Amino acid sequence: MSVTVVIGAQFGDEAKGKITDYLAANARYVVRTGGGPNAGHSIHLPEGQVVLHQLSCGVLRSGTIGVSGPGMVLQLAKLEQEIADLERRGLFRGELMISDRAHALLPVHEAEDAWEDELRARVSPAAALGTTRMGIGPAYADRASRFGVRIADLLRPAVLREQLQILYATKGHLGNLPPAETVAGELAEIAGRLAPYVRPTEPVLWQAIARGERLLLEGAQSALLDLDFGTYPFVTSSHPTSAGALVGSGIAPTEVTEVIGVAKAYATRVGSGPFPTEDTGPQGEFLRRTGGERGASTGRPRRCGWLDLVMLRYAARLNGFTSLAITKVDVLGGLDEIPVSNQYVLPDGTTVQEVLPTYADDLARAQPVYERFEGWPEIHARLKERIHHEGVRALPPALRRYLEHIAAEVGVPVEYLGYGPQREETVRLEPALGAGRRSAVSAWTG
Ligand code: IMP
Repeated sequence: MSVTVVIGAQFGDEAKGKITDYLAANARYVVRTGGGPNAGHSIHLPEGQVVLHQLSCGVLRSGTIGVSGPGMVLQLAKLEQEIADLERRGLFRGELMISDRAHALLPVHEAEDAWEDELRARVSPAAALGTTRMGIGPAYADRASRFGVRIADLLRPAVLREQLQILYATKGHLGNLPPAETVAGELAEIAGRLAPYVRPTEPVLWQAIARGERLLLEGAQSALLDLDFGTYPFVTSSHPTSAGALVGSGIAPTEVTEVIGVAKAYATRVGSGPFPTEDTGPQGEFLRRTGGERGASTGRPRRCGWLDLVMLRYAARLNGFTSLAITKVDVLGGLDEIPVSNQYVLPDGTTVQEVLPTYADDLARAQPVYERFEGWPEIHARLKERIHHEGVRALPPALRRYLEHIAAEVGVPVEYLGYGPQREETVRLEPALGAGRRSAVSAWTG
């Protein structure tokens, strides 16, 4: 029996898709547990790049079942398109299940997302969240208000019509909505086509656990975008933490065997909100260019900066990381020096090492205190080959020291390393660097 949870440890875009795809080789089920089309998990296959939004990477491997789980908000027209694109390219090799308890993301939610962010910008330009405008916040808000429409409801025309009628009655502030009847008809049609995939997914997963099969829970977004523990209000509207992955799949905490936190060797953020280690100078531009840092769902350029150990420590405690996957170390290859923020100084002079300030504004004004690490050489093709075959032993000493520093400071071993975009450019470090440490929470001395 094994349930592994994969969680983004920064602001999203940590290359979770790549790490989950690597781990999926040994899994039977891969479950997306939250978010919707706002996510973009990029995977570089030998046949070319795939960006998954509402499907888990389980659908890419034969013998593996990809589950779009109950914690998701699904935009069905886009989901159908995503399935069709993979089928057209011959890459839909696994199976698919869609939770009947997931919620439907409706055109009204997309309109409301834009309306809300424009309203914020009118009050103060700095208050706009810069959401993906895909309707995520309003869809989750309606779910919590019990105005939502579940995928199951789309398959019962009378339930769908009534729920939509009630929902529309709450949206008087939005003009020019497509008529509820038209929306109901279109949704019922798409849902009918997707019906063979739709079912209660939680009992299927429980049976799999009982049979001793391996499950991967693929979190989307990231800990620092969590509705409660992220940089509120500059967050998404779901819970992209390990606890959220359980609620979003229907799996009990007692079944989880490991929680892997994924972090880039540097940091990026897309959308508004505090980012203490952001580098708006030429080095930030270097990271953006070299790392190909553009939002996988929106194409927006990502803000770039340096590794932030305060955030990683915070994410590690929140999620109970048992190991870390550090990705994109190749992007930093060839730099003379690499800054890493070990703590912040707040405007009142206090220092922060472990726990993020509650106010986004305090975090925005936090001054990172950097340590500078010696850079490692470029990770060229021959070195990649050696890392692939020899693992830890082939790592350049400066890179090894960088990873050991992360493990020591966060209190969690570094077990996986991403050193290039391709599927095979991920390695499991044996032994993990910093192995022998305990889980993130028990390692905390705070
Ligand atoms: P929303 O999830 O569309 O409501 O956007 C809220 C915030 O989360 C914005 O700053 C988005 O840019 C950010 N966000 C949402 N999904 C992702 C993701 O998958 N990667 C990175 N940032 C994301």
